[in-house]
Amino acid sequence: MPAAAPPAVLILGGGLMGLAIAHQLARRGLAVTVVSRRRREAAGFVAAGMLAPHAEGLSGDLLALGQASLERLPDWVAQVEADSGLTCGLRPCGIVVPFASAAERDLYPTAAWGEPLERAALEREVPGIGPRWQAGLLFAQDGQIDNRRRLMRALERACAGLGVCFQEGSEVETLERDGSGALVAVHLRTVEGEPQRLPAHQAVLACGAWSARLLPQLPVFPVKGQMLSLQGPRQALQRVIFGPGTYLVPRADGLLVVGATSEPEAGFDPGLTPDGQRWLHAGIASLLPEASNWPPMERWWGFRPCTPDEGPLLGAGPIPGLWLATGHHRNGVLLAAITAELVADALGTGRPGLGTRWLDAFRWDRFPQPEAAASPAG
Ligand code: GLY
Repeated sequence: MPAAAPPAVLILGGGLMGLAIAHQLARRGLAVTVVSRRRREAAGFVAAGMLAPHAEGLSGDLLALGQASLERLPDWVAQVEADSGLTCGLRPCGIVVPFASAAERDLYPTAAWGEPLERAALEREVPGIGPRWQAGLLFAQDGQIDNRRRLMRALERACAGLGVCFQEGSEVETLERDGSGALVAVHLRTVEGEPQRLPAHQAVLACGAWSARLLPQLPVFPVKGQMLSLQGPRQALQRVIFGPGTYLVPRADGLLVVGATSEPEAGFDPGLTPDGQRWLHAGIASLLPEASNWPPMERWWGFRPCTPDEGPLLGAGPIPGLWLATGHHRNGVLLAAITAELVADALGTGRPGLGTRWLDAFRWDRFPQPEAAASPAG
């Protein structure tokens, strides 16, 4: 029997980036297979879904990338909704960043993009905001999407409708290269524990916080976040509140998503901790005291894929044929739209459709490399 033709593109990782890229490639007519281990661990299911380049106080290339992605989001979401028949819960609801004083507010890195609020205006934007907050910035252009309940499912459905194949429960173990170093195959352990070799000359590494397990030279490490949700009254809160260390994201049905701890020291330690949960409850009490009485719904945790400068790794990687889409840290949901477009254009056509600016700015090897070990004297 002749060997099966290799899939045109293998996506390693079935999280938000993997699905978003698979979707764009499938729309461009490529045959795509997505290999994933445990999709529920993906940061796309864990994040709060803020679209917040300004509220997060980003700067430099990362701010510009975030702004470019924010601009693309409505069209990208419209594509996902049209291809899936599902809604994604995109809400351009604006985000308020509160401050203890106007002086603090005016020093915020993205202050120039926001509308300054004094206490009275802050109370109008966020009825019930805690008394500590005397000033604010309203970023009306920022917003949110219901990633956990809607976007991930819609992307999955859109991919399936366009013929993307899914191989769930498979752990990628090694990458096979030819004599020139180029990718020729991916070796997996299937859900049944069997070894499997999938030929692949083109693949995308979108393994999030786990990326360096496959390619140790990638400077990606986990930053754990714990979260919870409360059920508030519908319409109790219109804007997202982005406080220092805690944020409150109100969904249309009143669910309030509360995030998040930031625990680089936890590595891949799973589970909730009393300290982490106390931190979130203290944040709720400070930002919106009445929400402390709202019924609790869920608690969860996950791992952000971080890099030394907190920007993603995009484009060609250290192995010819293996493209990178990882390291999005706090901004994965925001950056999914532009990441999918950049990687799918570069991979599908061999040319970066948006120009090389972003692929240059977010090269995987932009960081100072560790000194090579001194060679022995002699
Ligand atoms: N995007 C917010 C967070 O990572 O907690």
